[in-house]
Amino acid sequence: MLELLLFAGADRYGALGVSLRADAYAPWGSSPMPRLGELDRMQDVIRKVIANEPVAELEKRLLRPGVSLGGARPKSLIEIDGQAWLVKFGEGEDEDTPLIEHATMTLAARCGIDVAQTRALPVQGRHAVAVRRFDREATARVHAVSAHVILRALGEPFGYPQLAQQLRRLCRADDIERQQEQLFRRMVFNILMDNTDDHEKNHALLRQADGSWTLSPAYDMVPSLSRLGMQAMLVGKDGADSTLHNAVSHCKAFGMTRRQATDVVDDICEVAEQWKAHFQGSGVRDADVAVLAQYLDNDRLGGQRRQGAGALRSSARRSR
Ligand SMILES: Nc1ncnc2c1ncn2[C@@H]1O[C@H](COP(=O)(O)OP(=O)(O)OP(=O)(O)O)[C@@H](O)[C@H]1O
Ligand SMILES: [Mg+2]
Repeated sequence: MLELLLFAGADRYGALGVSLRADAYAPWGSSPMPRLGELDRMQDVIRKVIANEPVAELEKRLLRPGVSLGGARPKSLIEIDGQAWLVKFGEGEDEDTPLIEHATMTLAARCGIDVAQTRALPVQGRHAVAVRRFDREATARVHAVSAHVILRALGEPFGYPQLAQQLRRLCRADDIERQQEQLFRRMVFNILMDNTDDHEKNHALLRQADGSWTLSPAYDMVPSLSRLGMQAMLVGKDGADSTLHNAVSHCKAFGMTRRQATDVVDDICEVAEQWKAHFQGSGVRDADVAVLAQYLDNDRLGGQRRQGAGALRSSARRSR
């Protein structure tokens, strides 16, 4: 375990680190971070890795520390204006996924969700998406843990309501309500935007100076293009089903009344209804918008979004 921490070096996720000296923080092998100008070469190296072509040692440096941050997509670290950003590349798929991720994240911000700052970076006719690291403040390191760690340590199932309950325990008393509502917003947004890859490592908590915790800004939000109909974490009484009905079913676990929950649902439906214009305004190509529309505008998701919370309110009345 210590070796894992050691070899991940100073760039690893969160604040834990291992020093090679007892009297100063001297982490293993740090080299300067790549800069924006090296983006083209980074994309080339990624293409080589995907095609199983040999990659020279020097080129590997460009992809640091891709591995220690985890996740499935090719990524690296980059320095922009003295700040650490994560940069995620396309994998040669038809869609310009990184640009779609940027558009999804900025749409989430319009839905009142605190999101990590993103930038779409043009590269080789497509884009990479840069995501500002939330576990660094200038050069300081911020303690971060994923929902996976929090829930697994307690033997709790991986679910949104379960995580919402932990926020009660971990957040500052006067911040609990806001944090729980934030998590609820993310869940509803992920359902409506077909982000079914919202697993427990795609949520994190950050430690504050007073020892309390807050949700990290939201990250890794992008339509999964899956038609799965299920989220990766539990949502409500119908398990992980991707429905708004399911989302409001455990509103109490998020510290919300049914009325508050349905108001938030309406809020998010209204903004998400404009996804197409928002994506086009972000530069997403028409062909990609058309592919996305097959998933976002079909009866299942589009239908739920257009109905908003109306149906939920009347079904609540019926069940009373
Ligand atoms: N802005 C950020 N600041 C700090 N760490 C981050 C940030 N964004 C992501 N990470 C960390 O890097 C990991 C991988 O990032 P991300 O989830 O965006 O990549 P991915 O390859 O799309 O993942 P997945 O396998 O979930 O599809 C995350 O699980 C998280 O631990
Ligand atoms: Mg992820």
